[in-house]
Amino acid sequence: MAKKRIVVLTGAGVSAESGISTFRDSGGLWEKYDIMEVATPEAWARNQDLVMEFYNQRRKQLYEVEPNAAHYALVKLEEKYDVQIITQNVDDLHERAGSSCVMHLHGELKKVRSSVDESLVYELEGWELRKGDKCAKGSQLRPHIVWFGEPVPMIPAAAELSSTADIYLIIGTSLNVYPAASLVGYVQRGCPVYLIDPAEVNVMHIPGVKVIRERAGKGTAELVDELLKEA
Ligand code: APR
Repeated sequence: MAKKRIVVLTGAGVSAESGISTFRDSGGLWEKYDIMEVATPEAWARNQDLVMEFYNQRRKQLYEVEPNAAHYALVKLEEKYDVQIITQNVDDLHERAGSSCVMHLHGELKKVRSSVDESLVYELEGWELRKGDKCAKGSQLRPHIVWFGEPVPMIPAAAELSSTADIYLIIGTSLNVYPAASLVGYVQRGCPVYLIDPAEVNVMHIPGVKVIRERAGKGTAELVDELLKEA
């Protein structure tokens, strides 16, 4: 029999216990930096050095952290389910833990791309993107990140995937950022939806959601054990 499909939407909270800052918690990144100064196309046009430095620091940190219990629990879930991860995160911790199918909605920190042709994407060697690093067409390379105000090219594929879920898990996201937050709207009626987050998240638009008020490590490991028993 075909395995049931579990689609998992993750946000910064799934990587918090690895030591990566979230964005909107107290002490989060958007308290320390102005989004408009580092994460928009206008910021890039105005001050490439500052934008590159912001992402260089994030990338450097990524080399110093490891996946946590939540990432590993989602790998274990593959023993009995077809697990499809849609992540808002730009880190590679799901992949490093061993998850087979990971879709990045907001780009990937370890990749860079041409600033004139977005199909020219490269793996960056090491953590540092420098002024003068150029694509094959001679333009400055930029972080492979979806900035505020830019389209999210993976959304149609993520919506389609969400509509095929037998079970839907949402882990560690404040659901503040659209269109990612609207993906759960594509889930079929009757599909169980679980949300794991230690804080109160607005779930008004998710009828019947089962909220688990835990940190990702503990909450995901426990839910995965339960789902594996049920399978
Ligand atoms: N386990 C699970 N969840 C946690 C943990 C933890 N240990 N610690 C914090 N959280 C939760 C917070 O309670 C919050 O609900 O993670 C969530 C993080 O929310 P945000 O900081 O808003 O991050 P996210 O939802 O991923 O942001 C979406 O916004 O700026 C951007 O592009 C960026 O992809 C990002 C998008």
